Amino acid sequence: MIELDRLARLRIFADLSRDRLEWLSERMTEFTVAAGAVFLREGEMAACLTILLDGEVHATREAGGALDVERYVAPEAFGTPCVMASIPYPVTLTASCECRLALLPDAAFRELFISCGSFSQAVARVMSDWLTALETAALNRSRLAGLGKLAAGLAHELNNPASALTSGLDYLRRELDALEGAALALGRHAVSKETLDGLGALGRTGVQSPFQQSDCEARLADWLAARRVATPWRIAPVLAAHHVTPDDLAPFASTLSPGQFEAAIAWSARVRDLRAVVDDAAHGAQRIFDIVAAMKSYSFMDQGPQQDIDLHDAIDNTLMVMTHETRRGIVVTRDYDRSLPRLPAHGSELNQVWTSIVENAIEAMNGQGRIDIRTRRDGGDAIVEIADDGPGIPPDALDHVFEPFYTSKYALHAQGPSLGLGLHIAYRIVVNRHGGTIGVRSDARGTVFRVALPLAGGQGEQAGERLTGPVL
Ligand SMILES: Nc1ncnc2c1ncn2[C@@H]1O[C@H](COP(=O)(O)OP(=O)(O)O)[C@@H](O)[C@H]1O
Ligand SMILES: [Mg+2]
Repeated sequence: MIELDRLARLRIFADLSRDRLEWLSERMTEFTVAAGAVFLREGEMAACLTILLDGEVHATREAGGALDVERYVAPEAFGTPCVMASIPYPVTLTASCECRLALLPDAAFRELFISCGSFSQAVARVMSDWLTALETAALNRSRLAGLGKLAAGLAHELNNPASALTSGLDYLRRELDALEGAALALGRHAVSKETLDGLGALGRTGVQSPFQQSDCEARLADWLAARRVATPWRIAPVLAAHHVTPDDLAPFASTLSPGQFEAAIAWSARVRDLRAVVDDAAHGAQRIFDIVAAMKSYSFMDQGPQQDIDLHDAIDNTLMVMTHETRRGIVVTRDYDRSLPRLPAHGSELNQVWTSIVENAIEAMNGQGRIDIRTRRDGGDAIVEIADDGPGIPPDALDHVFEPFYTSKYALHAQGPSLGLGLHIAYRIVVNRHGGTIGVRSDARGTVFRVALPLAGGQGEQAGERLTGPVL
């Protein structure tokens, strides 16, 4: 006999009368399982409500290849949403120790649901909690996936300038010794400062084709070798890169002694070479600085949750942190109305909106195409339009793109379908958090997302509400 007190401790049965509990217990089948036994499997259809009367179980779920484990202690009921909605069990349950269980058949569950108001209310509460937990988990997954993708892209983006910087510094360290030798040779041959300044001033700027460059190098190397200059193959490329020709060098060769000429040309080439390496390294350092600064601005690090933001800076920062995704085949054009004033907003959340829209455009175009971003003012609203020239959204899908879990990307990611939350989250951020509107139009020529944000701040703002999921 199943103890009625034990049943009454379960949330869905808590409000039932003694008679109802007795009616229930008569319809339940009691059984025990040994430690390690699996008594309910992920994917199987639910035919009963399963109640854990004594013992402890663990629930496991294969989520994207990884195993999620959760522990439950008696008394506990499993499968309310599955029985209600006739859907398969989302987890596998395994006994952690010897357990006493009971099954309530589907038919008895439904009979009670129809005839007993307090039971149907309790079931509705369980369902509502279940949906909230499901949504929170999905939002968290989406947030983590977004963060992971962002971090991977940034790591890749930082890698190039960082390795340019490191190899540049390595080269500098090695070359400093050689520079010392070149400086001593200058002293030994008493080369004047005017000569060095003259050599340093030679050359022109401008782009030359690889063919022109190698032709210029070969002519210089031959010319230097004919004047018995040592290591012409080192000097010629550096001078050729600056468009220095044998004609430029001839006056120096004719006025200086061979020793002086060689010392002067070797020094000059080395200094030019090192200057270029330092320029590259400085460029790399600046790029790292820019990426970190954009990342800080993108996430509105060091700033309050709401502030007056410059929309254009925010969009530019978003594009900057997405460089890794756009650089291969996406042309981005910007047509900004610079007269737009700053507007009060939750900056990092809005950046999530631009990120989702741009990301969808890139995915729709398979990484190749055009994205046009326009801003303008429309009455009291700032308007941002993001257009792509991808394949467009089919008319029957257009009404659904802002719905949670709507996705057409079943085969995009190795870990399974996309979550279909990007635009739903974007909608909530724009509409619920900023009192704005977001809409889309699309045909075979492409897709345009249009976001309108009130310049005076959102009336739709709900004080204190914070979306746990979308905020990076
Ligand atoms: N620019 C676009 N071009 C074509 N389809 C799009 C575009 N933006 C969104 N979609 C469609 O809207 C769906 C929902 O987008 P989203 O909510 O971001 O979810 P997800 O990207 O995870 O599929 C996408 O799966 C896609 O079918
Ligand atoms: Mg998306």
